[in-house]
Amino acid sequence: MTDRLPGFNTLAIHAGAAPDAATGARATPIYQTTSFVFDDVDHAASLFGLQAFGNIYTRITNPTNAVLEERIAALEGGTAALAVASGHAAEFLTMHALMQPGDEFVASNKLYGGSINQFNHSYKNFGWSVAWADNDDPAAFEAAITPRTKAIFCESIANPGGVITDLAALSQIAKKHNIPLVVDNTMATPYLIRPFEHGADIVVHSATKFLGGHGNSIGGLIVDGGTFQWAGDPRYPMMSEPRPEYSGMVLAETFGNFGFAIACRVLGLRDLGPALSPFNAFLILNGIETLPLRMQRHSDNALTVAKHLSQHPAVSWVSYPGLETDRYHQLAKRYTPNGAGAVFTFGLEGGYEAGVNLVSNLQLFSHLANIGDTRSLVIHPASTTHRQLTDAQKTAAGAGPDVVRLSIGLEDPADLIEDLDGALSA
Ligand SMILES: Cc1ncc(COP(=O)(O)O)c(C=O)c1O
Repeated sequence: MTDRLPGFNTLAIHAGAAPDAATGARATPIYQTTSFVFDDVDHAASLFGLQAFGNIYTRITNPTNAVLEERIAALEGGTAALAVASGHAAEFLTMHALMQPGDEFVASNKLYGGSINQFNHSYKNFGWSVAWADNDDPAAFEAAITPRTKAIFCESIANPGGVITDLAALSQIAKKHNIPLVVDNTMATPYLIRPFEHGADIVVHSATKFLGGHGNSIGGLIVDGGTFQWAGDPRYPMMSEPRPEYSGMVLAETFGNFGFAIACRVLGLRDLGPALSPFNAFLILNGIETLPLRMQRHSDNALTVAKHLSQHPAVSWVSYPGLETDRYHQLAKRYTPNGAGAVFTFGLEGGYEAGVNLVSNLQLFSHLANIGDTRSLVIHPASTTHRQLTDAQKTAAGAGPDVVRLSIGLEDPADLIEDLDGALSA
């Protein structure tokens, strides 16, 4: 063996995994147990005191989850990772490690709607506030920074698709103000974009989507880039101050460039509790083994379907950065040269009624509120996820009455096109 690092395809299959030491099982076993027996009293004490790595209780660590954590850290190029129960839990535990009551963060205005809700409403209960900035205008992020700002948050490819974020520009601003850049890399996955290579400090995922990839398990991941200097920085006491729970240990000093991941685990996950079931970790690991193949096929299929729709008389516009005419095409070429992902929106000449008719008449596409499945998925936001908003609010959120969102699956693109054509003419 040489010192050369394995390639992405190899890491997707092997990183973190080895034949099971006890049984020789080649696939990663599902360690479906709540707890782990200590060798002796001293071993137990060293585990509880964070003096040794090992398993105590599945809310905090589990060997199946550990393989998933190591694999995503390798694929993203981070120092360590934490598996949690959902993408929202990953966002929440990240902010819990960064923020104190009265603190603020700046977030892109182009995010998954659930994240917008979480930031605007639920986070208020913790005394955290969000300032929104135009995703296309890095200067707007800088203008929103105050002395209480603890992070910048964005998505690499923004849900509902069609928007590519200039990560390097946001990273420059974050570095200038010495705050971490947190990137939700759900839509891109590390196959399309590796945010740490563009200056991100922390990556979060909804593993529910393309990482798991088969629409069968909810999960989330936090990846520590190991880049941010928490030690000695009083603005981030979870990492930089002595922890009374651990006999005055300073996590950033003891754990160095994975101190953030440890804080998320031993302060966030341990105390707040959104643990990932080992069974879901197993399913997500299986999904990741084929991630490179699937993401390429998702992106290729999406481009074929987007091109077809852009020529269709019933379609007024298509927002997919893979299209050469798209306003984000140059950013897509720079950040995601292998393809622009699976999810995009388009507009129907016939407005709201046409949107409702389309979702009712599609046969192969499933009408549901998810993305990142092997199956192709469709939703008409104005009649579902955004129905409580006024028309003006819907349009501002990119969910106007005419908008349809697709998550293109792995079927034959000719079948997807036939299904769309049939439903558009119905
Ligand atoms: C980009 C993005 N981030 C986070 C989430 C939340 O993830 P989860 O549903 O796993 O909690 C979603 C869910 O759709 C998402 O699309």
